[in-house]
Amino acid sequence: MVLRVGVVGCGAIGTEICNAIDSKEELGMELKLLIDNHPERIEALVTKLSKRPAITISGSKDLTASLDAVDLLIECASQEAVREFVIPALNAGKDVMILSVGALICYEGLFDEIVRIARRNSCRVYIPSGAIAGIDGLKSGAIGGIHTVELTTRKPPQGFEGNKYVKEQGIVLSRIDKEQILFVGSAREAVKHFPENVNVAASLSIAGIGPESTKVKIVADPGATENVHEIEVIGEFGRMFVRVENVPSPSNPRTSHLAALSAIATLKGIAYPLRIGT
Ligand SMILES: NC(=O)c1ccc[n+]([C@@H]2O[C@H](COP(=O)([O-])OP(=O)(O)OC[C@H]3O[C@@H](n4cnc5c(N)ncnc54)[C@H](O)[C@@H]3O)[C@@H](O)[C@H]2O)c1
Repeated sequence: MVLRVGVVGCGAIGTEICNAIDSKEELGMELKLLIDNHPERIEALVTKLSKRPAITISGSKDLTASLDAVDLLIECASQEAVREFVIPALNAGKDVMILSVGALICYEGLFDEIVRIARRNSCRVYIPSGAIAGIDGLKSGAIGGIHTVELTTRKPPQGFEGNKYVKEQGIVLSRIDKEQILFVGSAREAVKHFPENVNVAASLSIAGIGPESTKVKIVADPGATENVHEIEVIGEFGRMFVRVENVPSPSNPRTSHLAALSAIATLKGIAYPLRIGT
């Protein structure tokens, strides 16, 4: 059976997902619906595909009829799009994939609402690992009991340019000549001051011990050339340490290439009978 897919967001991640669905026959999926509030981004993406999806929507319209055309709706747009599209899709009994996972800790009550509707309508909600690794070990560890989860994100100082919190702290980025800690606190606080970290902090929080208990450290490191995430988990199982040195997506430097690849790997997991990893 061919799985009919809709994609919300025709940017860096959406383009890679659509290309994979279009070119990888072994996934057994067909792209039926594309949504973006910039019509020119839909058109730019369509030119890269072998076949135009049956429905394209720009701006907000009544989704009901369009949702009939899909079995799975993938959100790779923005936090607002999670509320705007994921809830109607679940209400229509569709499975969903969420990339803007930060929405689930930023909007009060949204996580519970999504789980409630998905349960009621027997839908699946897929959240790929995104820009990090180690979610599998964290999930396993959580069964036995986790004591601490700490995320350290390192970036070159210029990567924090324009950040309001850094400015308010009186930190002059151009003067940083050795590693400097910019922030230490809970994932809940971190996403307020460093919104670019929101997805990674949210994924770790959901898989582990929640946004209040997950600790985040943000470091400006003149020696770093890429965004580096280090995750340390200590629990009954022992200790886990994961370090990911991310290459940026070629079309959006704020997005790690691994995020799009993790969405495609999740699609592979849906399509294949055998599932490896927790
Ligand atoms: N889970 C992770 O680890 C992870 C990693 C990187 C990015 N992300 C998230 O994935 C999402 C997509 O990332 P990207 O790099 O592809 O972004 P992008 O900016 O390249 O593309 C997003 C596209 O979505 C469209 N869009 C945004 N809000 C919309 C709405 N409400 N309705 C319709 N269209 C809308 C935009 O016009 C744009 O074309 C972002 O929210 C980003 O934060 C998650």
